Amino acid sequence: MIDVLLGLQWGDEGKGKVVDVLSPRYDIVARYQGGPNAGHTIIIDGVKQVLHLIPSGIFHAPSVCVIGNGVVIDPVTLKKEILSLEAAGIEVRSRLLISDRAHLILPTHKLLDAASEKAKGEKKIGSTLRGIGPTYMDKTGRNGFRVGDLSHRDSEERYNVLVQKHQRLIQQYDYEYNLQESQAGFHEALDFLRGMKRINSEQYLNDAMTGGKKILAEGAQGTLLDIDFGTYPYVTSSNTTSAGACIGLGIAPRHIRKVYGIFKAYCTRVGSGPFPTELDNDMGELIRKQGGEFGATTGRPRRTGWLDLPLLKYAVTLNGVTDLIMTKADVLSGLDEVQYAYAYKTSNGIEETCPYDLSDSDIQPLYKSAPSWGNVSEAKSYDEIPDTLKNYIGTIEEYTGQKTSFVSLGPDRSQIVERA
Ligand code: GDP
Ligand code: IMO
Ligand code: MG
Repeated sequence: MIDVLLGLQWGDEGKGKVVDVLSPRYDIVARYQGGPNAGHTIIIDGVKQVLHLIPSGIFHAPSVCVIGNGVVIDPVTLKKEILSLEAAGIEVRSRLLISDRAHLILPTHKLLDAASEKAKGEKKIGSTLRGIGPTYMDKTGRNGFRVGDLSHRDSEERYNVLVQKHQRLIQQYDYEYNLQESQAGFHEALDFLRGMKRINSEQYLNDAMTGGKKILAEGAQGTLLDIDFGTYPYVTSSNTTSAGACIGLGIAPRHIRKVYGIFKAYCTRVGSGPFPTELDNDMGELIRKQGGEFGATTGRPRRTGWLDLPLLKYAVTLNGVTDLIMTKADVLSGLDEVQYAYAYKTSNGIEETCPYDLSDSDIQPLYKSAPSWGNVSEAKSYDEIPDTLKNYIGTIEEYTGQKTSFVSLGPDRSQIVERA
């Protein structure tokens, strides 16, 4: 059987932390989409680790970590990440399996990402510039370069053909670049990747399930960044929703047991695009400061705002969430009150569903407020958290129709309570 854990907002909900906490319950942790645009933070005894490609189960030997076919891999980032974990004493190479169907991010994909964003000017997506969009475009355009291609006799020729295609595309932009410089370390990283365990991961995972192994699928980004259901075009280029786990790992829907949907007690977004409950004021600044809301991949300040229940419910529905996980409730401790959007006022009246175009200026979130809570970061059980927080959780559960299984109350691995 397989459980899926994914983000219900615009990413950075705390997936890395919670996957790390849950991973002792599983034999295998597998990433199924996205690439090094992700930054998953894990804090163990005060030491911080940020993972971009390697599943967040890596800190729990002997669990096996799989990078599935749906992920796009930058070999340079992967090599750096493996070496850095090994330097911290973590056994990686024997435990990390990489799908031979996963696509590779080439240096020229990153150049194309940068050139495209520059050309968009004010309308830029706010991409992490990790080459994600151009790599998925080559995948769906049937031009991609895959991990399995590294073993082909003509892999160098395939690489060169693709690079030449990219150079022709970049020429159409007013964008200066140095190919030599951008390729620094790339070929060494490809050789490094050739030495890793590259497998048919769909077969491996299905055999593992037949043998009774338990798998946790780790999502990247969040539902509102999904290519189909997110705030298009301000989205990423993969399916971040639970269906993406089937495609990105080669697992049939009937094997999915639980879907853990993780959300912050408020909202954040990094990059451009609509954010109806955004707090562009002192309160927004306070939440950013208290929550340390700066991107784990790019260091950019994250935009902050109140919890948006219509969007949360939309995400719960799309993913078939069975268990909610709330994070960062501690960040709102000590406020006079918290607010949350419970509906939208639109030109059609009051709606509780997700409007087609959230950037439409006619759309106004309608808010309710609730009392806040005191310090919760020391709580060791669900019973110990204050009634005001329990009531806030109750409101969310009633609205979305789903129960909350975990509440995370601080960044450390130990700061989480499970609800019986
Ligand atoms: P991910 O991309 O979903 O894995 O999330 P990120 O790692 O990008 O961002 C989440 C940030 O919040 C990280 O800095 C975590 O260390 C931190 N974090 C996770 N859970 C909690 C929590 O419950 N409370 C607080 N204060 N910080 C948390
Ligand atoms: P994790 O897994 C938050 C955002 C970018 C940008 C948009 C497109 O850590 O939650 P891309 O580089 O994919 O072309 O960027 O998506 N974005 C994320 N925001 N968390 C992430 O990942 C993100 N990955 C991409 O900021 O707005
Ligand atoms: Mg992140």
